[in-house]
Amino acid sequence: MQVHTVDVVIVGSGGAGLRAAVEIKPPYTCAVLSKVHPLRSHTGAAQGGVCAALGNEEEDSWEWHAYDTIKGSDFLGDQDAIELMCQDAVRAIIELEHMGMPFSRRPDGRIAQRRFGGHTRPENPSDPNSKRIPVRRACYSADRTGHAMLHTLYENALKNGVRFFSEFFVTDVIVHNGSCCGVVALDIRSGQLHVFHAKAVLFATGGYGRVYQVTSNAHAGTGDGMAVVYRRGIPLEDMEFVQFHPTGLWRLGVLISEAARGEGGILRNKDGEPFMERYAPTVKDLAPRDLVSRAIVTEIREGRGIEARDGTFYVGLDLTHLSEEVLREKLPEITGFAQLYLGVNPRKEWIPVQPTVHYAMGGIPTDVDGRVVVDERNTVLRGMWAAGEVACVSVHGANRLGTNSLLDLIVFGRRAGKAIVEYLQAGAAWEELPADVLDFSRQRIEHLRSSNGPERLAPLRRTLQKTMMDNVGLFRTDQGLRETTSILADLRECYQRLHLDDRGDAFNTELVEALELENLLDVAEAITYSALARTETRGAHAREDYPQRDDQSWLKHTLVVRDPDHAAPQITYKPVRITRYQPVERKY
Ligand code: FUM
Repeated sequence: MQVHTVDVVIVGSGGAGLRAAVEIKPPYTCAVLSKVHPLRSHTGAAQGGVCAALGNEEEDSWEWHAYDTIKGSDFLGDQDAIELMCQDAVRAIIELEHMGMPFSRRPDGRIAQRRFGGHTRPENPSDPNSKRIPVRRACYSADRTGHAMLHTLYENALKNGVRFFSEFFVTDVIVHNGSCCGVVALDIRSGQLHVFHAKAVLFATGGYGRVYQVTSNAHAGTGDGMAVVYRRGIPLEDMEFVQFHPTGLWRLGVLISEAARGEGGILRNKDGEPFMERYAPTVKDLAPRDLVSRAIVTEIREGRGIEARDGTFYVGLDLTHLSEEVLREKLPEITGFAQLYLGVNPRKEWIPVQPTVHYAMGGIPTDVDGRVVVDERNTVLRGMWAAGEVACVSVHGANRLGTNSLLDLIVFGRRAGKAIVEYLQAGAAWEELPADVLDFSRQRIEHLRSSNGPERLAPLRRTLQKTMMDNVGLFRTDQGLRETTSILADLRECYQRLHLDDRGDAFNTELVEALELENLLDVAEAITYSALARTETRGAHAREDYPQRDDQSWLKHTLVVRDPDHAAPQITYKPVRITRYQPVERKY
């Protein structure tokens, strides 16, 4: 058995993992494991921006940003964490600029900012109660903001001597005598299991979009971190809140940035009507994502969608009135994507779009310093941290505002990194490893390698993804959710009878995909049971059988814990932290 002994192991090399790694400097040793090369991490696909109330374009304040985030979250976000994030945002952006991030600029040299859904300011800044109108708060690098951020953070982590283990796939988290003391990972290149024995472990493994059929997420987005902890009895928080981005490329789900609407793009139905005016009369196309996504599906359901040759429906994203300069300088990626994937020239035609699964609001529960907490009383699991999309701190509540995710990565990635350094400085030691440290991972892999059943990977994954899309998507019902729980149980049984063709060790991608499928199934279970239990509509969780928000019964966070015998998971709740803003009706 190969054991690597380090002070800190970070699992995941996207924005949150890298931002934390930047804090871990010598003499402390840090290993970053990643299923892909760090520069292939999904942060690189983020397009439109990272927000902060810099006020470079027009008057802005972090308090307005915080209020927008709380309202956007449908009042489920923890307000202390949101205030902390929005207050820290300005510093975080300047820090990135100093690290070398190539932001787009205004003519006067300051960082340029654009509009994004749900980000507003009072129309009359001296009257906080005046009508809220869209504000330019998103800092950006054309429509490749995540790409620029990822490269900047990677270079800075390399400078610190962080050691990268690319194509290492986490299979287990080691918790012994009440402390987290490392992870087990499969070296995809050799097929060998490695143990990373650490004083501190940070999970920054990103989201789970691949649970669904249509998603903007990379193929690697299989919920690995969430599934690994869920299998070990650590709870997951608010898993029912799955964000659909309104504008994925029709059928493919590839992201067409909200920046397109921030720059003036308009959604149109088959009659050419700019239909968002009916759903959100003040902010129109710049309403939050849960509202815009539901509006698109409502247009289609009510017969106003545009029919494609294959009988499916979409709506149009109209950029034809934008100048060549805006398309070339500010939206070059998405202009290219429309042309490349659908053969559509956005200068002349509407881009066919549909909602696409984009982001996990829920995840591993943490405090504001990224420490993993394991129950309703927020008891800390010693030695373990989580940050970024895999974590639920919770700043996004029931619905995240666009551009708050890149902000979350850099604010809470840094806080987790700093908290880890303090933990090391306070004298944290390597806890003893359990004798059977590899058994759990080894048994899973040996079972898959030796199984000779009739089931194949791809059909099981397709059934899972279609079921989740149809039954646990934008609109949900008791019947659809219950049906899904039994389909998931069947799929789990089938999984035990999986047959893999590749029995080899080196680069066995079939084995990796099989392990990923188990992760997808576990995450799907956590989402579905959490969604079944929440009998209200809030943010991204829309129950057709319970169409109202119900603060009396449901202003609380869900915690879902795996039942070791694979019966229904256990669900408990914890209160939302409210500072200054009592829930009100959400209107835009
Ligand atoms: O639309 C976008 O560019 C996505 C941004 C985000 O999810 O924050």
